[in-house]
Amino acid sequence: METELPHAARWLPPKTFENDFAIVTGGGTGLGLEISRGLCALGARVVILSRDAEHHRAFMDECATRGWRGEAATLDLREPVDVERAANALAERHGAPTILVNNAAGNFVCPAERLSARAWRAVLGIVLDGTFYASRYFGKHMIEARRGRILNVVATYAWTGMPGVVHSASAKAGVLAMTRTLAVEWARFGLRVNAIAPGPFESEGARGNLWPDEAMKARIESGIPLGRFGTADEMAAHCLWLLSPASSYVNGECFTIDGGASLGRGMWTEGATRKGTEERA
Ligand code: COA
Repeated sequence: METELPHAARWLPPKTFENDFAIVTGGGTGLGLEISRGLCALGARVVILSRDAEHHRAFMDECATRGWRGEAATLDLREPVDVERAANALAERHGAPTILVNNAAGNFVCPAERLSARAWRAVLGIVLDGTFYASRYFGKHMIEARRGRILNVVATYAWTGMPGVVHSASAKAGVLAMTRTLAVEWARFGLRVNAIAPGPFESEGARGNLWPDEAMKARIESGIPLGRFGTADEMAAHCLWLLSPASSYVNGECFTIDGGASLGRGMWTEGATRKGTEERA
């Protein structure tokens, strides 16, 4: 049996989450999977939620192999009645969740002038509506229990905007506002609400949708001060820290984890030459 801890789980004490019951939306793939694995490895009970049952398999197989307390359920977060029903059923079975990770997303690059109304609605529905429905209906049980941590996954283009992803940028900006609003509104119930804004990192979903080929990937990498994409487990390690008691006084914050990408390369870094200045003069 494999015993090595998932990379993201190596930085916190064993059993950090042994008293936790976590819900991770989109928890079967990419960043969601690494968060789910890390939480399980540190003792949590984890239920992953996603639309596609195929996406449950890798997590459920690993849970069976390692003896983790993992479960999976099929759910479309755009359907509020289904989200409420799932939240009530899971709370009935396991008690109130202590952790909710709103990670599920849909995204693709499409110029705004060609984006159909249905495409806009699909992404807004998953990212903005879905985050609210999950927060609202799982949050209800956290509020009753007077404890809980919610972590939302946004993107740095929530505040800069980004050509090609007006749907996702608008939805993530809404989720950032939701993070700050609920952090203040629900603090009186003992809940903490934070967000992370990952930069580009390797994942199957992103590779196909956001950088279809190596040339595009190289172009994006050239704009990242650390000179490389991140990895899902680097993002997940930070998420685990935010969900742990190590960050018990962090509330309403959004952490950027992007190798400096959102700051750009600056004007005076290598490649900016005096010759260029003289030519212009
Ligand atoms: N470019 C332009 N429009 C697109 C598109 C793309 N790449 N992908 C989907 N759409 C449009 C569809 O054409 C449709 O609009 P239309 O009926 O006007 O033609 C609309 O979006 C809904 O598409 P559909 O496939 O029926 O929606 P869905 O609800 O099943 O799924 C997504 C939409 C975005 C969630 C889906 O593409 C998806 O699952 N993506 C992979 C997951 C992902 O993006 N993960 C995040 C990676 S960062």
